Amino acid sequence: MGVGTVVSVDPQLVESCIMTLAQHGAYGETGVWRPTYSPAWVAAQDMIASWCRDIGMDVRQDAVGSVWGKFAGSDSGKSIVSGSHIDSQCPGGRYDGALGVIAAYIAMRTLVEQHGLPRRTLEIVSLCEEESSRYPTSNYWGSRAITGGIAPEDPERVAGLDGTTIADGMREVGLDPSRVHAARRDDLDCFIELHIEQGPLLEQAGLPVGIVTGITGPREYWVTVTGRSDHAGARPTDLRRDPMAGAAEIITGVIDTAHRMGRPAVTTVGRITADPNLGPAVPEQVAFTVDARHPDLEQRERLFTRHEVLMHQVAIRRDLEISWNITWDHQPEPCDAELVALLEESAAKQGVPHMLIPSGAGHDAQQMAKVARIAMIFVRSKDGRSHTPAEFTSVEDATAGIEVLSAALHRLAY
Ligand code: HGY
Ligand code: MN
Ligand code: MN
Repeated sequence: MGVGTVVSVDPQLVESCIMTLAQHGAYGETGVWRPTYSPAWVAAQDMIASWCRDIGMDVRQDAVGSVWGKFAGSDSGKSIVSGSHIDSQCPGGRYDGALGVIAAYIAMRTLVEQHGLPRRTLEIVSLCEEESSRYPTSNYWGSRAITGGIAPEDPERVAGLDGTTIADGMREVGLDPSRVHAARRDDLDCFIELHIEQGPLLEQAGLPVGIVTGITGPREYWVTVTGRSDHAGARPTDLRRDPMAGAAEIITGVIDTAHRMGRPAVTTVGRITADPNLGPAVPEQVAFTVDARHPDLEQRERLFTRHEVLMHQVAIRRDLEISWNITWDHQPEPCDAELVALLEESAAKQGVPHMLIPSGAGHDAQQMAKVARIAMIFVRSKDGRSHTPAEFTSVEDATAGIEVLSAALHRLAY
């Protein structure tokens, strides 16, 4: 260990944890397909639980399926927590979320090996259903259960695209949806999440690690445009009520609006369906998502208002019906200033080059801010890519991030 460094993390342990966990739900050469409560997800959570048990942690699964491991501190006081999620986009990459759970495990294992048991209680958490990839309106299910954000009627109401509910998914793996309230925690001091950046800023700066200043405020609309289905050939264009023409104008318009507003405004249309989805027929209905984000409260409202005005204007002009529901809508969340400073000092102490960076992605930490002080550590994403099997972070960068996390946990818990 260099002078002043607190811990040294074994890169081989980092690599083996990444590759071993990625086997559960492996998709193609480098991706994963690991929806919450699926057999691959259960196997991955069981692996996390066994890793934690093997290093002497008290291990339990909470009422919604998140796995917790604990090293009880000799002192009393609220817990210091680190973790993330192991569910993935489908398909997704093997680092999004998973690397944060691996980081918490390796950091706590290394600290106990090199410094003994902590003075303050340390807990790792492997959260469920962060991505909403199986249940689109579940948003941050695991962390919202901890903050008490899930209503008793939600499990039977939140549904997947296949029509089954998240309550069905919970029962599939032996969980009781009526006990969601039992996952609530009010004894957490802070939550520090290591995560891949998922964008290009660290790579452009030539740095392995970022200390996150704040998390953006995402809103997702599911928009339905309804017209009239007609023959693709016999119906003159000027006599149509074509929802695809309306959707195309709206989709171009909302993306251009964010582009004209400039960074950090972003708007994405990632999912679209047409009904009846036939080549030689004008569709009856077109549905699509609009995912719009901005980290500033005022700008955020301005972005959303512009989108909604445009959607109404296009529908009126093209004699179409339009409706939408909002599947998630989260306020931007600043990271705790003291913890940000602690992470910067920890990076300096460990000799890890770093910079301050905003998060354009949403994270569990954003939810956990309701019950604990939060902070995040980013590690570099190759080509700035994520939410794709092409996602990659080098073992060196992951190890550097985990050393920063370990040094910070050491300052907080020893
Ligand atoms: O979409 C997000 O920002 C997160 O990765 N679920
Ligand atoms: Mn994530
Ligand atoms: Mn993600």
